[in-house]
Amino acid sequence: MRTMPFLDLPIVAAPMAGATTPRLVAAVSNAGGLGSLPVGYETPAAIHALIAQVRGLTARPFAVNLFVGTSVAVTAAELERAHERLRPYRAALGIPHPAQPPANALNFDEQFAAVLQARPAVFSFTFGIPEPWVLDACRSAGIFTIGTAKTADEAVALERAGVDAVCVQGYEAGGHHGSFLAPIEDSSIGTLALVPLAVDAVSIPVLAAGGIGDGRAVAAVLALGATAAQVGSALLLCEESGASPVYRRVLASDAVKRTTLTRVFSGRHARGVRNRFIDEMSGAAEIAPYPHQHWLTRDVRSAAAAQERPEYLSMWTGQAVALAKPLPAAAIVAALVADARAAAAAASGILVRTGQRA
Ligand SMILES: Cc1cc2nc3c(=O)[nH]c(=O)nc-3n(C[C@H](O)[C@H](O)[C@H](O)COP(=O)(O)O)c2cc1C
Repeated sequence: MRTMPFLDLPIVAAPMAGATTPRLVAAVSNAGGLGSLPVGYETPAAIHALIAQVRGLTARPFAVNLFVGTSVAVTAAELERAHERLRPYRAALGIPHPAQPPANALNFDEQFAAVLQARPAVFSFTFGIPEPWVLDACRSAGIFTIGTAKTADEAVALERAGVDAVCVQGYEAGGHHGSFLAPIEDSSIGTLALVPLAVDAVSIPVLAAGGIGDGRAVAAVLALGATAAQVGSALLLCEESGASPVYRRVLASDAVKRTTLTRVFSGRHARGVRNRFIDEMSGAAEIAPYPHQHWLTRDVRSAAAAQERPEYLSMWTGQAVALAKPLPAAAIVAALVADARAAAAAASGILVRTGQRA
């Protein structure tokens, strides 16, 4: 079977911007999986500081994750319209409406330079294929690369670009969806269909992500040919998660039965719990393209978290989050593997019994 050298167990903790903490990354890596540190929204100085924090908690390998892909051009008038559309939400939260639309403060090249300097064992990314010099720099530095694909075609494109492994992300997945070759409607394939299509299309290791809520699903994706399962939502309620109290409360409620893909918070499609902001803004013409909408809505989302107003908060999560448990991350990783073994044995038992009857 294809393996990845830094995995003792076939479990990768998904990078979850807004929820992953250095403690969570270290806990998963210390438990024998691979923790992933999301730094897509961080400055170079913060990237250095966060990586140092993880290194203070584990000597084991971990991944650092960035958003790649080009920023869509936007006119000042478009930005101003999208900014103005948020005025009533700022009023409802009692926060000021900034005179100027908040701008994107981050630059991929500078972020990547910080990652490269820190030399993590693994660099993972989503939203596209980095320029060749980025992958060349990783190869020269001995950094293993993992790209994100939503279709088998995207997995092939990533393999051709020279990535070391691909994480295929099914429709069930929480958070941002990383499609980059086709529109979201043509890139919305369930994990059960996507994994074998991708495994057959590439020869590099395939990680499976999206809706993997417990050990039964881990066994399923390994049976489909994945090298490991990348789990996000299953860790959202763990003790080391940075999810805010209000976000945790909603995740532990019946509201998680209604998740949806929406671009109202960031300008790119992401799966989260449906709420008033999504319902009111969906279909609005005044949504700036990614990443501009992310920066425009940032003060609204921060105020909503601080004031415990889930109706205005982005609460990214996948379709299987109801299976998530409020345990230490190490216990969740151990249960994923133990339950996967039990599920695989049960499946094998059925096949053996039915085989004997045949
Ligand atoms: C709260 C949250 C934040 C996320 N942030 C990122 C991110 O920063 N980078 C990334 O590559 N994927 C991100 N994702 C997507 C995950 O990598 C992964 O595809 C997803 O969690 C898998 O689906 P699941 O949540 O059903 O396990 C995020 C997912 C969640 C739930």
